[in-house]
Amino acid sequence: MGTTIRFGVSLDDALLDKFDSLCLQQGYKNRSEAVRDLIRNALVQQEWKDLGKEIVGTLTLIYDHHQSDLGQKVTSIQHDALEIIISTLHVHIDECNCMEVLVLRGSGEKIRQTAQRLISTKGIKHGKLNLSTTGKDLV
Ligand code: NI
Repeated sequence: MGTTIRFGVSLDDALLDKFDSLCLQQGYKNRSEAVRDLIRNALVQQEWKDLGKEIVGTLTLIYDHHQSDLGQKVTSIQHDALEIIISTLHVHIDECNCMEVLVLRGSGEKIRQTAQRLISTKGIKHGKLNLSTTGKDLV
């Protein structure tokens, strides 16, 4: 961990008021922690643009398991991408609907590609990819 450096930021007072309200709403004890999170968030978003960089994420899929062949298709796509799928959780939501959560780790390109393939599979009611970071390059 590096040295902590203090720096000043010039802001319009109306913008600062809005930022302070946001910090309060989101439970920040002070502006510094909120600014640190904003910076980390920007850096993580930058990681996602680097196609070769290793990132992590989760993909949530909702589908009706009565749809013919759907479960098989979802499984088959996952077998094609087993190098990036760390873990899978299947939850039976009700008598028809299933939720599948995939934990992914690999290049942003491969993760996005696999996620899009699964989300666009006919019969998937909803799919959402949430990207994050391995945290290696963050302090
Ligand atoms: Ni199920």
